[in-house]
Amino acid sequence: MTENILVAGGAGFIGSHIVETLAKTALPRIVVYDVNATDKRVGNVVSFKGDVFDSDRLLNVMRKEEVSKVISMVGLASISDCRKNPNRSFSLNVSSVHSVLEAMRIVDAEHLVFPSTAAVYGDVVEPEVDEGVEPRPTNIYGWHKLAAESLIRGYAEDYGISTTVLRVFNVYGDFLMEQGVISAFVRMAFEGKPLVINGGGQLRDFVHLNDVVDAFIKSLGNVAAYHKVINVGSGVGLSINKVAKMVCESFPRTEVVHKSSQNGEYGIFADVSEMRNLLGCKAMDPRVGVPRFIEKCKLTEKRKLLMASA
Ligand SMILES: NC(=O)c1ccc[n+]([C@@H]2O[C@H](COP(=O)([O-])OP(=O)(O)OC[C@H]3O[C@@H](n4cnc5c(N)ncnc54)[C@H](O)[C@@H]3O)[C@@H](O)[C@H]2O)c1
Repeated sequence: MTENILVAGGAGFIGSHIVETLAKTALPRIVVYDVNATDKRVGNVVSFKGDVFDSDRLLNVMRKEEVSKVISMVGLASISDCRKNPNRSFSLNVSSVHSVLEAMRIVDAEHLVFPSTAAVYGDVVEPEVDEGVEPRPTNIYGWHKLAAESLIRGYAEDYGISTTVLRVFNVYGDFLMEQGVISAFVRMAFEGKPLVINGGGQLRDFVHLNDVVDAFIKSLGNVAAYHKVINVGSGVGLSINKVAKMVCESFPRTEVVHKSSQNGEYGIFADVSEMRNLLGCKAMDPRVGVPRFIEKCKLTEKRKLLMASA
């Protein structure tokens, strides 16, 4: 069996960085399959513009490129977008996984690595969650990801596909591509707008993009991670208030406006023992990584302004 890797959704925020990092390794072929890709071959990366729901094309690509491992990054990651458009959320977060699993079953591919989310935990009792905590999602995004996890289990049990589910927490690290709270705060600060915070005491687990990429790559073909669900986080809970404070340290004239939270101020962060033990990964501490990232965002915005005025 070959070791060639398909990255479905490989042109997106996380997927493109996985591809970029894989391309630097001496691994076999990396096959990008994405509606936003263009057909091309650069070094050991071959890209196809393709829809995961076009099963003929997907199968042709997987057969032609002799794919044995798959990372499926197709999805709709924004909770508010999923809430506004549950059909699209179902299609991208659940049906797309089914299409990929079907193609894997037909071509007899070996291993799927799938990005689930901290949102499957939902209404937690204690903020620190390990993978044994019962999922109790509180939004359609979390429920759809949980449904995808069930589909994956079904294909593993009935068709012997090896699978690894990574429950990814709050990713930061690419200002131009991401939509998370840190980048949103930096954009507001840059525009001289106040940071409006609902609640603020909520703990979140901010994990750097490089560490997320590392977890995906170390999962690929890793027998210890087969049929496992693994949290991918930093293991540190940082409050939204603390993030706002970090932004204000970089942009001292920024005001913070507090509003009461309608959803309570529950917090969540990852127990990362499995990530460390099974994948050998340790993420950067966000108390170090987030301020560095804010400074980097500032430089990116300044460069953009300079280029616009040139
Ligand atoms: N971004 C995060 O913070 C985060 C956190 C946890 C989990 N995740 C999950 O990770 C995955 C990737 O997230 P992201 O932020 O990189 O998303 P993204 O939207 O940047 O990437 C998704 C990619 O899928 C492609 N795509 C969409 N529909 C397609 C289709 N029908 N066929 C082929 N390609 C298609 C898009 O063109 C895009 O390049 C998602 O499943 C998301 O739920 C993301």
